[in-house]
Amino acid sequence: MKFFIDTANIEEIKTAHDWGIVDGVTTNPSLIAKEGRDFKQVVLEICDIVDGPVSAEVISLEAEEMIVEAKKLAAWHKNVVIKIPCTPDGLKAVKQLAGLGIKTNVTLVFSANQVLLAAKAGATYISLFVGRLDDAGEDGLQVIGDSVAIIENHNFASQILVASIRSPLTVQKAAVLGAHVATIPFKILQQMFQHPLTDIGIKTFLDDWAKLNA
Ligand code: G3P
Repeated sequence: MKFFIDTANIEEIKTAHDWGIVDGVTTNPSLIAKEGRDFKQVVLEICDIVDGPVSAEVISLEAEEMIVEAKKLAAWHKNVVIKIPCTPDGLKAVKQLAGLGIKTNVTLVFSANQVLLAAKAGATYISLFVGRLDDAGEDGLQVIGDSVAIIENHNFASQILVASIRSPLTVQKAAVLGAHVATIPFKILQQMFQHPLTDIGIKTFLDDWAKLNA
């Protein structure tokens, strides 16, 4: 399973990258706006830190405008992946961008049928928003399981990317279900390290070592 970090914060990206577990980065307009910095500058700084896919999202809603925007973003750096919403215009753009060899991340996906459509259009990644589904009283992980089965059963090249992650347990369960990628907020990555028995074990080892050397 690949781990992307779901943030546009440079310090968070540097810290997680130094842990050796980051394969890529996802941003969205909200995450970029949170940093209050120039979009291109932030994306280029991220590309300097992480040698892997870096998602940058288009703002246009019409296919031809999305394609123009996508070409501009893709020209910024070879690792930029174009994030496009799952709409008819979005998938029309994805199909054409796939033909041009430009990688895409179809976003705001909430159902297995949307996954099927995005896969057929040639999406590189398909971002399923698990947390927002759970917030709406649906079973996000059920949709992940169904989507992974669709991709595997029909040998689609697209990868299921688990997004909108709110807890370490979601990452664990998505991994068991065979999801190809999880994009994880920094706070959740930190929480994944934590186990009280690890802390107790370290303390015991150090106490015993101190006694031996007393
Ligand atoms: O990658 C998409 C993700 O950032 C959405 O997360 O927490 O806004 O639902 P959230």
